[in-house]
Amino acid sequence: MEKTRHKLWGGRFNKPTDRSVEAFTASITFDRRLAPYDVAGSIAHARMLGRQGIIPSQDAQAIMAGLQTIQKELEEGTFPFREEYEDIHMNVEVRLREHIGDVAGKLHTARSRNDQVALDVRLFLKDKCMETIDGLTGMQGALCELAEKNIDAIIPGYTHLQRAQPVLLAHHLLAYFNMFERDKGRFKDCMIRADEMPLGSGALAGVPYPVDREFLAKELGFSRITLNSMDAVSDRDFIVEYQSAAAIAMVHLSRMAEDVILWSSSEFGFLELDDSYATGSSIMPQKKNPDVAELARGKSGRVVGNLMSILTILKGLPLTYNRDLQEDKEGLFDTVDTLLSSLYVFSGMLTTASFKADAAKEALSRGYLLATDVADYLTAKGLPFREAHEVVGNLVGYAAKRGEELSELTLDEYRQFSSLFADDILGLSVEASIAARDVVGGTAPRQVRKSLSEAKQLLEREP
Ligand code: ARG
Repeated sequence: MEKTRHKLWGGRFNKPTDRSVEAFTASITFDRRLAPYDVAGSIAHARMLGRQGIIPSQDAQAIMAGLQTIQKELEEGTFPFREEYEDIHMNVEVRLREHIGDVAGKLHTARSRNDQVALDVRLFLKDKCMETIDGLTGMQGALCELAEKNIDAIIPGYTHLQRAQPVLLAHHLLAYFNMFERDKGRFKDCMIRADEMPLGSGALAGVPYPVDREFLAKELGFSRITLNSMDAVSDRDFIVEYQSAAAIAMVHLSRMAEDVILWSSSEFGFLELDDSYATGSSIMPQKKNPDVAELARGKSGRVVGNLMSILTILKGLPLTYNRDLQEDKEGLFDTVDTLLSSLYVFSGMLTTASFKADAAKEALSRGYLLATDVADYLTAKGLPFREAHEVVGNLVGYAAKRGEELSELTLDEYRQFSSLFADDILGLSVEASIAARDVVGGTAPRQVRKSLSEAKQLLEREP
């Protein structure tokens, strides 16, 4: 029996675990990250056991004191994480025994690692939801800053990646602000469901001790307790929800990355990244590459993959706890780290980038961006829009054949296509096109300035 003594569950075993099995089943290399939450959960649990008279109060005191020593070790980086003790829960308990002796064995009364790990991940996730919301707010702040710095800047807006209609750069940037606002809503929502305290569920059926679950919830900062022990130990919806909100946020970031990559190419040239946020090529001396944006775009693939992974892990699991659930953590940690670092670096890249007005102006002058405005002009003169569309289509075809822009045509040429054209048609401009779209949600400067100030107010109100 000596050989299996170090295992907290070693009682019924006659042989030591094979080394390969130990390595295969251990999670300490990654769940060590849950250590502060695990210890906080154990302190609350010990306090509750003492208060309820489930263990003598001096034992509870000794356990809590030992756990505080462990907290200090964790802070100082001296806590020994050991693979032979499998996971963070056993590592903490073994260490506690080293500090306070056999009384440590009373900590696991009325508890299982199954409700314990559910608790740890919920605590972790609640923190990370807050950090993620902060990261998204930082990103939104960066967007507002860039928009404000270039509040009058006009760029071509695109559909099908073809020049479509002129828009304010700020309008384009605020589109992303809105996406990130929805993302924040999803993380807030995720936090609401993560905010349930599972201790007291035991291994799966509940515990045969007079535990005070409400007290535990309060001690650990939860609003509610879970209401079905079998659900509580096997539920990982909160991870799926975080993963899915993160995947959506990363997809938003990835789409914005694509804009940044296009805009900083010589073909577009609307944006110049600061030297501190771009990288060079080892062979081509002229290169200044948007690697930050490209990596954000690439990393979105990882995060989407992590969502697929947790859904696939869960889909075939019978109730209740199955060891498969241990596979929930690495993907979660990876997603959290990837999303937070992407948001952080991307924000810095945006606030240091500079807008290139000349390139945007050049792009606006070609590509018939005002064709819709010409059609609207005819519509204002009473022509049904469909007919106006046809007339302007012919006009654009005529100009394109001559290699000219609409602004280069004479009034006579316009009038060949419709007698409704008068000389005010020659006054069409990108600025007038923008100003005309004075509808809530439109790109008129008046509307965009209002949206920007509302966006900034929102950030101040709910950081
Ligand atoms: N390391 C485990 C996990 O992450 C903790 C729970 C283990 N429970 C068990 N019955 N083996 O899921």
